[in-house]
Amino acid sequence: MTAPRTPNRRAPPLLILMASVWLAAGAATADQDAGARIAQEGNDRGATACIQCHGAQGQGQAQPPFPRLAGLPEQYLIEQMDAYQDGRRANATMAQIARNLDDDEIQAISRHYAEMEPAGGPYNVPEDLINRGRDIALEGLPDRNIQSCATCHGEQGRERNPILPPLAGHPPRYLMAQLQAYAEGARETSLAGLMQGIVSELAEEEKAALAAYYASLPASDQ
Ligand code: HEC
Ligand code: HEC
Repeated sequence: MTAPRTPNRRAPPLLILMASVWLAAGAATADQDAGARIAQEGNDRGATACIQCHGAQGQGQAQPPFPRLAGLPEQYLIEQMDAYQDGRRANATMAQIARNLDDDEIQAISRHYAEMEPAGGPYNVPEDLINRGRDIALEGLPDRNIQSCATCHGEQGRERNPILPPLAGHPPRYLMAQLQAYAEGARETSLAGLMQGIVSELAEEEKAALAAYYASLPASDQ
């Protein structure tokens, strides 16, 4: 007599599954709407619309410089917003904005930018700097035990995983500022001080060359 009971035993899990798929789909849509709205309008608690500085396509801008956000990993974005809030990443403009967003809003805006097509660059930078930067990026500086950036960031600077941001298509001055911030301790976001360790070994001239190289690469090959 087990056969007739089977549908009854199965029904609840199936219903729960269907309900949770439906709920998750609803949540994702709500999230996307919220993310897009914050990007375009900000919120009513003082967070400014992101597109004002980061561009309508999330592509960034050369001056002052503003980094690209489109296509950066979701978890990386959430982590950076947390870091602006608690000061591990020192920047007055972004600290003010991040502190006016709650966790749900940060989640939504991060998903929004992570799902956008990568956009940004290439920027015009001096050829000799690009060439010098490419050498270090691809080969490292073996005589000083500095590994190549490409090991993690990829040859085109497009490598990405949840905690690894792509570098291609950022403004050169943004990249330079980050390399300096890691070296000076103004940016302490990198797990186990990884980027700080790498960058503190580099001369200013080498940082500038690396910033130029990655800025000369477009965020997307489309
Ligand atoms: C008034 C201009 C301005 C506005 C508006 C603005 N940003 Fe920014 N954002 C900046 C600047 C400048 C930086 C670079 C700061 C630094 O050097 O750390 C930055 C950096 C960032 C970064 C770090 C990117 C990376 O590659 O690590 C994230 C993430 C970010 N902004 C998200 C946002 C979001 C989300 C919004 C909208 C809610 C927003 N920003 C609105 C100016 C702005
Ligand atoms: C072992 C892996 C690894 C290597 C090698 C490496 N990086 Fe990174 N890099 C990372 C990770 C992980 C992050 C994210 C750290 C964080 O959250 O601050 C990062 C972040 C960055 C950022 C900040 C990006 C942004 O959007 O703000 C820059 C710039 C950067 N790396 C440049 C370089 C350069 C230039 C080199 C070579 C000299 C290099 N990296 C070598 C792993 C690496």
